[in-house]
Amino acid sequence: MTTAAPFLPWNRPSIGGEEEAEVIHTLRSGWLTHGPKATRFEEVVKTALGAEDAFAVSSCTAALHLAFLAAGIKPGDEVITASLTFCAAPNAIVQSGGTPVFTEVDPVTFNIDPEAAEQAITARTKAIVVMHYGGHPCDLLAFRKLADDHGLVLIEDAAHALHASRDGLRAGSIGDLAVFSFYANKVMTTGEGGMIAGRADLVQAARLLGRHGIDSSVWQRHGKRRTADYEVTVPGLKYTMPDITAAVGIQQFQKLPDFTARRAQIAASYDRSLAGLPGLRLPTVLDGVRHGWFLYPVLIEPVGGRSRDTVADMLLDTYGIGTSVHFKPVHRLAAYRYIDCHLPVTEQIAARQLSLPCYPAMTSSDVQRVIDAVHAVWS
Ligand SMILES: Cc1ncc(COP(=O)(O)O)c(C=O)c1O
Repeated sequence: MTTAAPFLPWNRPSIGGEEEAEVIHTLRSGWLTHGPKATRFEEVVKTALGAEDAFAVSSCTAALHLAFLAAGIKPGDEVITASLTFCAAPNAIVQSGGTPVFTEVDPVTFNIDPEAAEQAITARTKAIVVMHYGGHPCDLLAFRKLADDHGLVLIEDAAHALHASRDGLRAGSIGDLAVFSFYANKVMTTGEGGMIAGRADLVQAARLLGRHGIDSSVWQRHGKRRTADYEVTVPGLKYTMPDITAAVGIQQFQKLPDFTARRAQIAASYDRSLAGLPGLRLPTVLDGVRHGWFLYPVLIEPVGGRSRDTVADMLLDTYGIGTSVHFKPVHRLAAYRYIDCHLPVTEQIAARQLSLPCYPAMTSSDVQRVIDAVHAVWS
C-alpha cells in the first residue's frame, strides 16, 4: 500500500462552532485580557480537580516556572525529575535557580519510578516533579507518601493528563501543585495556554508572581479603583492567560470527556489490530487507570534492519503518515550534558519509542490507514 492520500499529521486540534462563538462573544465583550472568562475557566478546572485554587496562564511552561518559584526553589536546591520528559520542567527548574536531578523511569509505563526517586533524595532535595507520561498517571499515592515522608513539595506535570485518573484519583489532584498544557496538540487546547492548580497558598503565590507581583488583577480593579492604585509586593513576571484564549478553553473543557473516549477507542483499535507484530511493543495500561491517551506510544526493537527511525521514515515517506517521538532524554540535550547520570531504562525507551497518531479529529478510515501502513511496513 502506497498512498496518494493527503498527509495525515501526527496531531490536529478539534475546534468547533462552540469555540468560535465563545471567542466572538469575548471579542465583542470589550474585555480581552485575563478577566471574567479566565476566571470561569479556572473555576471549572478547579472544580473538576477538587483543587483549592487554579490560575490560568499563558503556557504549561509558565505554570512550571511559577510552580518552582512558588515552591521556593532557589540556588542550591535540588528538584527530582525524570529525564524522559519534555525540556520544559528541567528548564523551569534551572530558571528558578534550582538543579534538576534526573532519575530513572518505570519500563512499563515510562513514568518516573518512585524507588529511583527515593534513592535520589539528598539533604538538598526540595521538590519532586512527576510527569504522567502520555496520559498514563504515575503512582500518585506512592509519590504523595514519598513527598510527605521527606517534607518535599510534590509538583505534577500533568501536561498530558487532564482527565486521566488512577485508582479513582484524578491526575493533577494529589500534588501540592499541578500544571496542565493547552498547547495545540494536547488533549484539549487553547492554542497556547496552561493552568496551575493545587494548594491555595501556593497557587496564590503563583498568581501574584504571574501578574508582575501586583496584589490585584486589572479586572478586579476595573471601574472600582484608579488604574494606578496597585502595589507590587514581589518582583514578578507576566504569565496570565487572556480571555480570548480562555474562551476556547471553556468550550474545549466541556468536550474533554468525549475527546478522551474517542482517543481510547482509537487506542483500542490499535491494540486489537497491531498486537503480535514481531518487535513491536504496544502500550500497557495498569489496572485502575483511566488513560488520557495523549500519546499512543509504541516501542520498536531494532531487529532485522527495522528500527524506530526507519519505521517513522517509511510511514512518512511511503504512506504520508506523521509520527512523533517522546522524548529525547533531557540529560542528552546539549544544555544538560554536563549532568552526569546513568539512566539505561530511559535510554532504551528513548531509542525505541514512537508515538502513532491518536486524536479525536481522526476518522475511522484515518485509523485504518495507520493500521494498514504499520502492517505494510512489517510485511
Ligand atoms: C510533559 C510536558 N510538560 C510541559 C510541556 C510544555 O507545555 P507548553 O507548550 O504548554 O508550555 C509539554 C509540552 O509538550 C510537555 O509535554
